[in-house]
This record gives sequence, structure tokens and C-alpha cells, in this order.
Amino acid sequence: MAFDLIDLPYEDTALEPAVSAKTLSYHHGKHHQAYIDKTNKAIEGTDHADKSLEEVIAAARGSDQGLFNNSAQSWNHGFYWHSMAAEETSASDELKSMIDRDFGSVDGLKEKLAERGAGHFANGWVWLAVKGGKLTIEETHDGDTLADQDGVNPLLVIDLWEHAYYLDHQNARPAYLDAVNGKLNWSFASENLARGTTWEYPN
Ligand SMILES: [Fe+2]
Repeated sequence: MAFDLIDLPYEDTALEPAVSAKTLSYHHGKHHQAYIDKTNKAIEGTDHADKSLEEVIAAARGSDQGLFNNSAQSWNHGFYWHSMAAEETSASDELKSMIDRDFGSVDGLKEKLAERGAGHFANGWVWLAVKGGKLTIEETHDGDTLADQDGVNPLLVIDLWEHAYYLDHQNARPAYLDAVNGKLNWSFASENLARGTTWEYPN
């Protein structure tokens, strides 16, 4: 099947000033679209054509770097759009108690996310995930993803590529992280936690 560029789950102005409509027009309309198009082109007429995006990522990991990068980036961006929300959302009681246990408080978690995101070298992603029953902050480099990794359930992700923030915050990644921290979709994270299995890209 061919994969579709999923719609943004909010208006393109909804995340301003953390993430502007102009950034989203390029990031969603150009970057994400290009990853989807390249994935579709690479799988057309191959054994991968009928697979889910998660299956394509798993099959390409370690064997086809080009397809891996494009399919993983397609998934990561879909997950990232949902990781932010226009309105303030709140964590479920289950998620709240895990955050308190593992990070002290929501503010403590946000600080750690910002610290790890700011310290990440070059392109990549910073994730909130569940591993071994505990919340953990993970980093992946370039297009790498948690989508196909066993034993880890991603709850939220923040894009650390410059294309995510350069138009709005120039080189100030910490300013972007602080702003995006205020837009995180705790209700999406709670759904991912409650499901207990990794989110699936809607085809
Ligand atoms: Fe991106």
C-alpha cells in the first residue's frame, strides 16, 4: 500500500509561537511529505508493498539504510505531530503517578527532556518512553526510531532537527525545547501508556 501524509491534528497556527505556521508548512508539507513519497517510491512493486509502516521500518533496519531513513522519518513525524497539542491536555492518573515516581514532577520531567534534547549532538529525536515498567528518556540519532524496537513503548517525541525550529528560534534549540515543552500532548502520552503497545502510523 502507499502511505499517506497524515493531516496535522490541529490548525497550522495552533502551536504558535512555539512552532509557527510557516515552520509547519515546510516541516509537514515539504519534509514529512518527502519522506512519505520516498518511502512509497522505494516499496512500490517490492515485497514491502503490502506491509504496515512499522513492518517496513523493521525490515529495512540494518539492510536498506535509505528505506530505513525514509520510513522511520515518516513514522517519527506522524508521532511528533500528535506529541503536541493546541490546548493544554492533562496526563492520566496512571501517567501522573509514574512521572512523579520517576521524575519527581511534570516540571522535573520537562527539565530532563529539555536538558537531554539540548545536549543531543546534531540531528535526532528525544523521546519519553516506557521501558521495563519505568518511564525513561531516550535519544535516537538522525532518522532512527523507537517504532520497531522491542521492549520500549514511546509516549512522546520531540524533533531535534534544525528544520523543526530554525525559522522560529534560529540556532537556539533550548528556546525551542522550552516552548515545545509547553505544548506537549499529555493526553496522547496517556493513551500510548494505557494501550501498552507502540502507536501505529495511520495508513
Ligand atoms: Fe523533522
